[in-house]
Amino acid sequence: MRIPDSFLDELVARSDIVDVVSGYVRLTKKGNNYWGLCPFHSEKTPSFSVSPQKQIYKCFGCGKGGGVVNFVMEAEQLPFVDAVRLLAQRANLEMPETGEAQGVREYRQRLLALNREAARYFHSVLRTPGGAAGVAYLKKRALSPATVTRFGLGAAPEGWDNLITAMGEKGYTKKELLDAGLVVKNEQGRLYDRFRNRVMFPIIDLRGEVIGFGGRVLDDSTPKYLNSPDTMVYNKSRNLFALNIARKSKQGRIILTEGYMDTISLHQAGFDCAVASLGTALTSEHAQLLSRYTKEVVICYDGDGAGVSAAQRAIPLLEGAGLKIRVLQMKGAKDPDELIKTQGRAAFERLLEQSENHIQYRLDKLSANFDLSDDAQRVEFMKGAVELVASLHSAVEREVYGARAAELAGVSPEAMAAEVKKELRRRLFREKKQQERRDLTPAQQLQPKARGLRYENVRSALAEEGVIRLMLLSPDLFRQAEGLEPEQFSSPLLGKVYRLLRQRWQQGLQVQLAGLAGELSGEEMSHVASFADQPESAAHAGRALADYIAVIQSEAFRRSGLDDAALLRAAQQRYKENKSYGGS
Ligand code: UTP
Ligand code: MN
Repeated sequence: MRIPDSFLDELVARSDIVDVVSGYVRLTKKGNNYWGLCPFHSEKTPSFSVSPQKQIYKCFGCGKGGGVVNFVMEAEQLPFVDAVRLLAQRANLEMPETGEAQGVREYRQRLLALNREAARYFHSVLRTPGGAAGVAYLKKRALSPATVTRFGLGAAPEGWDNLITAMGEKGYTKKELLDAGLVVKNEQGRLYDRFRNRVMFPIIDLRGEVIGFGGRVLDDSTPKYLNSPDTMVYNKSRNLFALNIARKSKQGRIILTEGYMDTISLHQAGFDCAVASLGTALTSEHAQLLSRYTKEVVICYDGDGAGVSAAQRAIPLLEGAGLKIRVLQMKGAKDPDELIKTQGRAAFERLLEQSENHIQYRLDKLSANFDLSDDAQRVEFMKGAVELVASLHSAVEREVYGARAAELAGVSPEAMAAEVKKELRRRLFREKKQQERRDLTPAQQLQPKARGLRYENVRSALAEEGVIRLMLLSPDLFRQAEGLEPEQFSSPLLGKVYRLLRQRWQQGLQVQLAGLAGELSGEEMSHVASFADQPESAAHAGRALADYIAVIQSEAFRRSGLDDAALLRAAQQRYKENKSYGGS
């Protein structure tokens, strides 16, 4: 949808970036800017800066940057319009509703309403003969009626069109059922219910909306679980099952499981902080989401090989979100659900208490790969352990886990410490080399981080950046840049930014980056923010602009292959004029 520029301006004016960012990051003033720990990557020293003058943020570590709307998009993982809506609420501004957006929003509401009706329907089936098998199954899994109600569990009866018929009676169309992922179309174009003869687990988001379903077979047939596909209202890499309940838990951590049944069993046993990823591996978006509601995550995956490797993959993602991680090792059962059922909640509680810090967990897993009574294998284990310990950021951690590793390997803590020290020195050397290589290739460094934005002509692009920087500084310079056209820019992105800013100037709107949030991708915005904040002196702006324009235009001529003498002379003429205009 298009949000009117005038509205965006008003919104940006009322949403001071320092205020907004302060809601997420502790900022300290240093010089003109504010600094803090970047919320988008994990770091220990602040490289995230916010400029109150330019109303932009940028991180020197991960390269993210932009205006206030981009910040909210990134921090809340929201699309543009939703970020604007959130800021509008905050600023007490009424959202303008334009035709298309209104339509899209209403349709999304409609799909949510349909999902809710479907969940009600599946739940009500439990009280009918068609739901008897489902009821029996839930009972067999030892789920109490209270649990069934709490999670809104239900059953899809046998048959091809029970849901289609029931929802049809409520006025929902086939298209809506398809778009919600509740029905499937076969090759002949006939529609049938996606979920048949299954027990149903509604997936509920943080606002309490039903966004999708998982359905389990009642026997050993396959696929064991069917899940809603991603739809306009459901994205499985951004949602976690039961987080709507777990986020209110007082237990001070979140238990991350692999499955619906594990999570539900844990809740029934009193662990109301359990969640599950939904038939998909944990994503960094999941990790970010978790970090908004807890500081500590206990990974509680199945004890089999698949569970162990899934845990190993999840650890760096959770670490990246700044979470404290522990890993519960399943013993005497394949998963939490089975453990609670066969050994009771106290047994789970014990495992939970014994659950290890993830470093210990990784050391254990590493040592399990070797026969430590064999000298050659002990050496191999040492190598892996040294690398693991050297990768730890804290010296205390290195000492503690270094000693543990030494014990496992049967060497003295001093020998281990010496090896770790050597490895650290090697790492430092490698980093220095890398840094040197970067320094030796300045042109490379000037390139945007994102591949798709690479500059073809660095000389021209740097001048183009300069023009944009100047226009942001003093928009009246557009008057002086009359002969400069976006088509002359060598970088399509920079040309676009120039065109958009000039449009804003012509329309009497604020010439500022925040106003472009709807037109540029996050990557593009980050890049623009990164060069927009470089120093540029307003005092000699006119002169600098003329120089930049001369470079851009002469490169443009060169590129077009028109080294026609007349054109060149014209360019030189304009160059001189500009120079005398701005150079006073
Ligand atoms: P599991 O097979 O470990 O499930 O798969 P579970 O929860 O222990 O199932 P029960 O106890 O046999 O009922 C873990 C998760 O992987 C997804 C589901 O989300 C499941 O909860 N999964 C599994 C699927 O999406 N499809 C499948 O066919 C199987
Ligand atoms: Mn299970």
